[in-house]
Amino acid sequence: MKSPTVLIIDDEPLMRLSMEDALRAVGCDVRAAATGPEGLAMLEQAVSDIVVTDLRLPGIDGLTLLQAAKQRSSRTEVVVITAHGSVETAVGAMKAGAYDYITKPFSMDELLLIVERIGKVLALRQENLLLREELEGKFNFEGILGKNERMREVLDKVKLVAMTDSTVLIAGESGTGKELVANAIHRSSPRRDQALIKISCAALPETLLEAELFGHEKGAFTGALKQRRGRFELAHKGTLFLDEIGEISPVVQVKLLRVLQERQFERVGGNETIDSDVRLVCATQKDLKKEVQQGRFREDLYYRLNVVPIQLPPLRARREDVLMIAEHVLQSRAARMSKAVKGFSQGSREVLLRYSFPGNVRELENMVERAVALCRPSEDIQAWDLCGMPSCSYLGGPQQEGCGFCSEGLTGKRAVPASRSDVVDSLAAAREQFEKQYILSILERAEGSRTMSAKILGLSRKALWEKCKRYGIPSNRSSSEDEDE
Ligand SMILES: Nc1ncnc2c1ncn2[C@@H]1O[C@H](COP(=O)(O)OP(=O)(O)OP(=O)(O)O)[C@@H](O)[C@H]1O
Ligand SMILES: [Mg+2]
Repeated sequence: MKSPTVLIIDDEPLMRLSMEDALRAVGCDVRAAATGPEGLAMLEQAVSDIVVTDLRLPGIDGLTLLQAAKQRSSRTEVVVITAHGSVETAVGAMKAGAYDYITKPFSMDELLLIVERIGKVLALRQENLLLREELEGKFNFEGILGKNERMREVLDKVKLVAMTDSTVLIAGESGTGKELVANAIHRSSPRRDQALIKISCAALPETLLEAELFGHEKGAFTGALKQRRGRFELAHKGTLFLDEIGEISPVVQVKLLRVLQERQFERVGGNETIDSDVRLVCATQKDLKKEVQQGRFREDLYYRLNVVPIQLPPLRARREDVLMIAEHVLQSRAARMSKAVKGFSQGSREVLLRYSFPGNVRELENMVERAVALCRPSEDIQAWDLCGMPSCSYLGGPQQEGCGFCSEGLTGKRAVPASRSDVVDSLAAAREQFEKQYILSILERAEGSRTMSAKILGLSRKALWEKCKRYGIPSNRSSSEDEDE
């Protein structure tokens, strides 16, 4: 990564100059301001990777600058300088989103150490960003994301079949992306400039569906006040997407078979034969083969529709796609809501990776959208933002009705609600559960720094270390200050 840009805001000239020199000497690109208002103006001029600001400043104080810097860019990391003995203000700044604080008097080495650590965080973030861009470019076809092997095969097939006029039958559970695939086929086909007409066969009763598909003549049935063209006519030279094809009645099945065989049809109540040039894409949640075996679906029609079958795997069978799709949804919804959201916390990633998503990608989308709406601005999405409940059984609280995590459990499929072992049966146990969650959340906010976490929690490092040991919280070895533990 290129050297970080640093903005220093301090009213003490000697201190400011020393910091400027020290940071320049290690290759940082440094700007400096002597007052709050000057600092604010510089913040607005350009985004800095790091802002180092004194908390007590003439004009505008450091806390306000911290907030302004975060608002300008949630990626800017802020280090605040506090007077000796004012731990409370430092904790306040940490809570407001500062990365770290440094107490006067301090040596330049201390400052450089913090800046170096932030540099590592920034580099990691940059790496993630590149990875994200790469993933989205390489593993994204017409908005269908997937790096799972089966999804790669599906996408290869979609690309190939799009070039032809063959009828496609897309099968998959609800929310697996059947309509998305149908859109992709049309959009990358030679018919892309013509219409893509869609109809859900489950939404209409038999007679209405027939009239919708083939149109009707004036007076064909009660209420048919004028002639109307059907979806086959509207889709002429384009693509017709028949959703929930497994739901059509035997009568409509016969009519459909005829269009497919003869490429001709008549409107309901009409004699005129109409030629049809339509590319058919169908989708079903049902296993059509089974429907044939059980006599509910015509075998001859099945073979006509199943020319190119595309089977979409459920999301639980392609877990490697979960985070990529989640990240993609986060970006799109955050942009739509004009809300700065950092990313997913470690805890929330784990939740996403362990959950089985019975509603597939649609459920994942809704979950992330809700989390983007609920999470605190400029912060990471937490597990409880995904759940949408203030505290569900996963998070140590009570069982919540309507909560997917609660009803299914996160450690695999659990048919019954919370098992006995989930019930907290004593105040002490409840307190411990809460304490563990609380420590974990503070550690996460302090990016694994135990020194910082101990300060925020009001504990000595030793006391925190003992609690972590008791609760089985592993130490974060990447944090250099903890290496002596
Ligand atoms: N691989 C994917 N990458 C990105 N988004 C996806 C993917 N699959 C599905 N989605 C999104 O999930 C949502 C549901 O997809 P879609 O409507 O295509 O599912 P479906 O299989 O037709 O579901 P249903 O059977 O309930 O109609 C859509 O918003 C779609 O954009
Ligand atoms: Mg659908």
